[in-house]
Amino acid sequence: MAAATMLFAGVAKAEPTSGRNATVDGIPVPMPPEDKTAGPIVAGRDTKLAGRVAVVTGAARGIGRAIAVEYAANGADVIAIDIAAPVTSASSAVPATPDDLAETVRMIKAYGGRAEGIRADIRDIATLRAVADGINERFGKIDIVVANAAVQYWKPLLELQDSEWRDVIDNNLNGTANTIRVFAPKMVARNYGRIIVISSMQGRHGSKDAASYSASKWGIFGLMKSAALELGRYNITVNAITPGLVGTALTFYDARLSESIGETGYHKPNGPLTPQEAWDRRAATMPLGVAWLQPEDISPAAVYLASEGAAMITGAEIEVTGGDSAKSI
Ligand SMILES: NC(=O)c1ccc[n+]([C@@H]2O[C@H](COP(=O)([O-])OP(=O)(O)OC[C@H]3O[C@@H](n4cnc5c(N)ncnc54)[C@H](O)[C@@H]3O)[C@@H](O)[C@H]2O)c1
Repeated sequence: MAAATMLFAGVAKAEPTSGRNATVDGIPVPMPPEDKTAGPIVAGRDTKLAGRVAVVTGAARGIGRAIAVEYAANGADVIAIDIAAPVTSASSAVPATPDDLAETVRMIKAYGGRAEGIRADIRDIATLRAVADGINERFGKIDIVVANAAVQYWKPLLELQDSEWRDVIDNNLNGTANTIRVFAPKMVARNYGRIIVISSMQGRHGSKDAASYSASKWGIFGLMKSAALELGRYNITVNAITPGLVGTALTFYDARLSESIGETGYHKPNGPLTPQEAWDRRAATMPLGVAWLQPEDISPAAVYLASEGAAMITGAEIEVTGGDSAKSI
């Protein structure tokens, strides 16, 4: 207790910008090795990704595309992976296309770094292993992986076909686990890595008529925290981003817009709403006054978690929700 008080008092008097003093008030204190701290204060250390190689799954559009492009804007080389085709009949969204993936690659390249688009299915671990080997060979390393690809399906639990339940869990949870299991060994070999998984506020509460999606997103937290426990010794951090409702192809159809009103405590409308009606009703209940966020509202959190500034964050989640988070613990 006495030692702790002394240390605390000393820290208060330490040079604010020195960061790596080995003594506090003349008393020697153990300091972490350089690769086990975010280091001293340097402007931009929370955003710089120059020289990094990042892989983003589900990057043909939406949040994955925003993360891939924002990584490039901050200096990283980026490999965008997407199936760019129908995933399963248990998906309520229109499928992404090869043109969508090509557009992401074009947007990444506009920032001057190296970029590749790869069509692959995260459920197919053998193919994913070959993809990881190929990227490692061509780019020399893999520093950052964002496991973002997912589908969502709206159907009451008791009406779901067996295959529909399995497909959503397989795609979202097993696919995210595949992504970690395939890319993390490349990071272990170099004793460095940043892994980011994408969960959802629907992984923090139940979802009426979307139980399979909710269950898959709850599972992603357990996966993330377990991987963080196992991979910390290799200097690999594993964290989750938890978006609130975001306006993407995943969410823009009648059932989801109606459900988004139900989530606010209003009665779910019986018939379809226009996007404007849905916006107005939901925005009125949101602390920051927006009904849904933009993909580019989510990507800065992915930059931060991949940066040196976040070196000591692992096993954690960052909620980017426009205020939905204020309604739950
Ligand atoms: N949009 C939202 O409101 C919202 C909210 C919370 C969390 N999320 C999560 O954010 C992530 C991105 O969602 P989005 O809204 O951008 O959706 P989106 O449908 O626009 O993009 C998802 C992409 O993942 C790809 N994909 C799906 N399954 C795949 C597979 N097996 N292999 C390869 N690629 C596959 C799709 O082709 C698509 O391009 C998802 O994990 C989603 O659950 C979205």
